[in-house]
Order: sequence, then structure tokens, then C-alpha cells
Amino acid sequence: MEARSPLGAQSSIGPIDHYLADLHQRIAGVTDGEIATYIPELARADPETFGIAIATVDGRVYTVGDADHPFTIQSISKAFVYGYTLAEYGRDFVLSHIGVEPTGEAFNSIVLDEVHNRPYNPMVNAGAMAAAELIKGDTPEARIATMLGTMSKHAGRSLHIDESVLRSEQATGHRNRAIAYMMLNSGMIRSAPETILDIYFRQCSVRVSCTDLAVMAATLANDGVNPLTGETALDRDYIQDVLTVMNSCGMYNYAGQWSYEIGMPAKSGVAGGIIAVIPGQIGIGVFSPRLDAHGHSVRGVRVCAEISETFGLHVFRNHTNSGAVIRRELSGTVVRSKRVRSPQERALLDDKGDLISVIEVQGGLFFGSTERLVRRVDAIAAEAEFIVLDLRRVHDADKAARRLLRDLLTWLRARDRHLIFAHLPDDGPLGSLRTELTADDDTAELVFDHRDQALEWCENQLIAEFDDGRDRTKFSLAQLDIFKGLERDDLRVLEGLVRPMVFEPGQTIVREGDEANLFFVVARGTVTVQLRLNAENESERLVRVASMGPGVTFGEMALLDGGYRSADVVADERVVCYGFSVEQLREVGKTHPALFTTILGNMMRDFSERLRRANDEIRALEQ
Ligand code: DON
Repeated sequence: MEARSPLGAQSSIGPIDHYLADLHQRIAGVTDGEIATYIPELARADPETFGIAIATVDGRVYTVGDADHPFTIQSISKAFVYGYTLAEYGRDFVLSHIGVEPTGEAFNSIVLDEVHNRPYNPMVNAGAMAAAELIKGDTPEARIATMLGTMSKHAGRSLHIDESVLRSEQATGHRNRAIAYMMLNSGMIRSAPETILDIYFRQCSVRVSCTDLAVMAATLANDGVNPLTGETALDRDYIQDVLTVMNSCGMYNYAGQWSYEIGMPAKSGVAGGIIAVIPGQIGIGVFSPRLDAHGHSVRGVRVCAEISETFGLHVFRNHTNSGAVIRRELSGTVVRSKRVRSPQERALLDDKGDLISVIEVQGGLFFGSTERLVRRVDAIAAEAEFIVLDLRRVHDADKAARRLLRDLLTWLRARDRHLIFAHLPDDGPLGSLRTELTADDDTAELVFDHRDQALEWCENQLIAEFDDGRDRTKFSLAQLDIFKGLERDDLRVLEGLVRPMVFEPGQTIVREGDEANLFFVVARGTVTVQLRLNAENESERLVRVASMGPGVTFGEMALLDGGYRSADVVADERVVCYGFSVEQLREVGKTHPALFTTILGNMMRDFSERLRRANDEIRALEQ
């Protein structure tokens, strides 16, 4: 694993940098506490060393002071090894070996949970040793590599062991030996204590910096994904467990006070490091070797207390606003798909459009917000038959949300209501819900990449439901809007100009930039008008502008200005079109002026109606 480079780090000095510089300067004046000496090598630390680092879940790293000064991680390692054991063995197995109860005692207390025959929790030395025993590897070297691999993934760079601290702890770790033998005696561990202590002392002796700690904490805050490398260090299903135990046990017999005052899941180490995690936001790393009576960095506790207070980061402070889950509701009478409709279809949708409702959903979907959404959809379903959930602004969704949306779908189906999902990408927060829905043919048709396609589907359903059943694929030229009002003779002239053309699915009928010398009437099938966008160093993106079905024209602008095509038109399926040569029509116009002016008049009327409709929609969208 190469050295990481903090994304967008240190690019510019901003408000957070100023805040941290001021905080560091103020707390640097605090000189209470004593350096740990029971591990002799730790006693060599410079008491004035002091660093603070904050890493965001999107990879921005702020540092101040001795943020890159190396020291050993010590007990902070316990949180990451605990996470590793959960991912490797699962919750039940680990819980049968290590409890989750705070002891209310110091980190190295020799108290064990004899009721359940296990150490109380993984944050005290006894529990950490039980976890260390679970580190996998066929050889001691392999197990050390597994341990280092886990830590390095969280740090986003290769971490190494400080051999001098390791030797110092091996030489003096007798209390830990006592704990290990007590546990062996009661069967809480099975391997030889020295084997376990070897890997435990090594995990405590991993050399880190403040910046490493902040990134490791930010990885926990980012659902187990390292914000710098993008690598998953721990499956998101176990993050809640690690943070819960850090919150209740991470600061030992100060955990209650810490949780009350500061309220961030945290873990300290006897060398002077502290990590704190604000889920979904940041990871904090602090280092200053002077410790308080509980074995926590004095300056570290002050820094976390101030940051929590200043920025309102207590995890039990309500940071969510489930009430804002619905950004906007739009009726199908005002918001339409980009499908160009015949006047009859437009009239039908004007009349029945309120049977379609579009709900723009935003923010995080969790129980509180999704419950509100479900309640609102339920209310809307009293009137609307088709409810489109536009989920493009949903940035997070938990299992409660997925379950409630699934149940809502079933609930509405039982009432002949359609719940349609738009903007549900595979790699999005609701990716697993998409997988579920698309796995079943029945529900797969209710999932669309774009709201526009979802709206078109709803409109097609409504038209099919309420239409007069007339076969719209069979029509004479006289029935086409663009030719409305033409005399029979003129229509006969036009029939002589028709060029039937067939296009295969996906075939480009007209290409942007081509000379515009034909316009088309769709006779069968549907076509999509799309723009190809080539943003710099991004792959080409297609944007759907409109779609047309039988009886609708496209390319008629050529009649107005000739010119060049302004977009591509592609056949969605096998398409039959009637092509009309612009040149021929102009020619005919010389001998049949009424024909040409009638066509232009119809086009003007159509364009002005589309303009009015667009204004109505903009008005509705801007309200
Ligand atoms: O086992 C020990 O005593 C040390 N390696 C780790 C203790 C520690 O970090 C306690 N934390 N505050």
C-alpha cells in the first residue's frame, strides 16, 4: 500500500484551519498530567508534543501542530481489531467470547465477567487479548500481517511496528500476563498467553501519527470506507457495533462522563493518542502524551470537548430533520414527460393528469424520514393512481428505509395504486432496493433511471386506461396536426411526397450537425431526441430532450430555417417514419402556397402551445 496523499489537503487556509490553529495554541498552554512510564519506552516521549488532525468523510484533512509526529497507537488499536473480529466471525460468535458491558474500571483492571465467562468488553486489556486471539493466520508472521493489514487499511497507508516500544512492553507487561493467565485459567482464551500477548503487544506498538488517527476515525465515520483510498476497511454492518462499544467502553471509567459531556464515540491510548468519530461527518485524531488519572491525554480530552461544544457534535444532538424529506410534490397536470403527445393525448393528460403525483424526495432516508414519506404517499394515494418517487436527491438510506419502501409498494399495490421509483442507481444509497425490485419482473417495470421515463410510463398507462381505444398507429395525413386544415388536393400532393422509411432499434435517424433536409412523421414505434454532452475528460453523456410516438412529427424546424440538426434522433424500437423532403415541400409551396402556410401555421400553433406548457411547468417547478 503506497503512501496516501490527503485529497485536496492543505490547498488553502480556511476557517477550520484558523479554528484549529487557535484551539491548538490555547490548549498548548495546558500542562496538567503525567506521561505514562509503566512502559519505559513511553517515558521517553517529549511532553510538549501536541498535534490535532480532522479528516472529513470525503477526504479533506486538516492538521495543526505535531500532526505527523510518530507515536504508538496503544489501546486505540482495540477498536480496529474488534471490528476485524466482528467481520471475520460475526456478531454472535464474538459476543460469546467478548462482552459489551462497560466495567467502570481502569483499562488494565483484572475483572472478568464470570457470569458469561468472558471479558466484559473489547476496549479493556482483557477483552482486547481475547480479540487478539481471534486474529487469523497460519503462522505468527501471518497473524501480524493480518493485524497490520487491518490497521493500514483504516489509515490508508502502510503502518509498521515500533520495535523499541514493543520490546519495552514485552519486558514489562507483567500485569497483562497476569490477566492473560487468569483468562486461560477460566477458559476465556485457549491459546498460550505468550502467543496472544505477542500479537496484542504488537498491535499496541503500531506506530501512527495524529493524521493517521484522524483518517482511521474518518474511515469509521464513513461507514468503513477509507475516505482517502476509497478502500473498504470494515463492512458497514459492523460500524454501529464498534462505535457503540467505543461510546460505552472506549474511555473506560471515564466513559460515562465523556459520553455525557462530549458525546462522540472515542478511544484513547496510553501513549497520548485519542480518536473520536462523528458518524457521516468527520474523524478526529489528537496526540499529547501527558495523561490524566484515567490514562487519557489531558490536552486530547480538552480538544475533543471544545470541538464537540463549538460545533454541536454530540451524537445525541438531533442532526436530522425528518420533516424535510419531501422537497416538492408535483401533479401530472403540470409536470409532464418529455414525450411529445398528440393534442388528444395532451387533452387527456390535462384532464386526468392529477392521477399522477411526483414526489421529490431528499436527504437521508431512515425510519423517521421514511415514515413521514410513507404517511404522505399514503395520503396522496387516496387520489393519485400513480406516485413517482424522484429519489435523485437522496444521499443515504438505511435498512429501515428500504424495508418501509418495499412494504409501501406492496401496500399500495393491494389498493391498485402504482408506486414508481426514479433515480435508483445500482451504486446509489438505495442500490440494494433496486436489485430487489428489478429481480422480480412484477416490480422491475416500476424502476426507472430517470423521472422523465417514469412520468412517460405513467402517462402511457393513463392514456391506455382512458383513451378511446382508437389505434393511433393508423392515421391519414389529414389527421396529423401539422397538416390540419389542408385541402384534399393539397393532401394528395403531400401523399405523393411521402417517403416511408424504416429504422432498426438504436439506429440514429438524424444526427446533430447533419444538414436538415427532411422532416419526419412517426408512423410506428417511438423515437428519442437526445443531446450528446462531452464535458471535459468525462465520458460522453446522453441527455434525453424529448420522445415521440405515432402521429407526431420531428425535424420540422428544417422547414423554418433549413440549417443543421440541433440534436440526435434515435429509434427506441423498430420505427416506421414518413419522411418529407424540405426542398420538395418548398418547391410545392411555390405552386400551393396555402399548403405551405397552413403547415407553418400549424407548426407555430404547436410551438406556442409547447412554450405555454413549458412556462406552466417552470412556474410549477419554481413555486
Ligand atoms: O496494555 C497496555 O497496557 C498498553 N499497551 C495499552 C494500554 C492503553 O493504551 C490504555 N489506554 N488508555
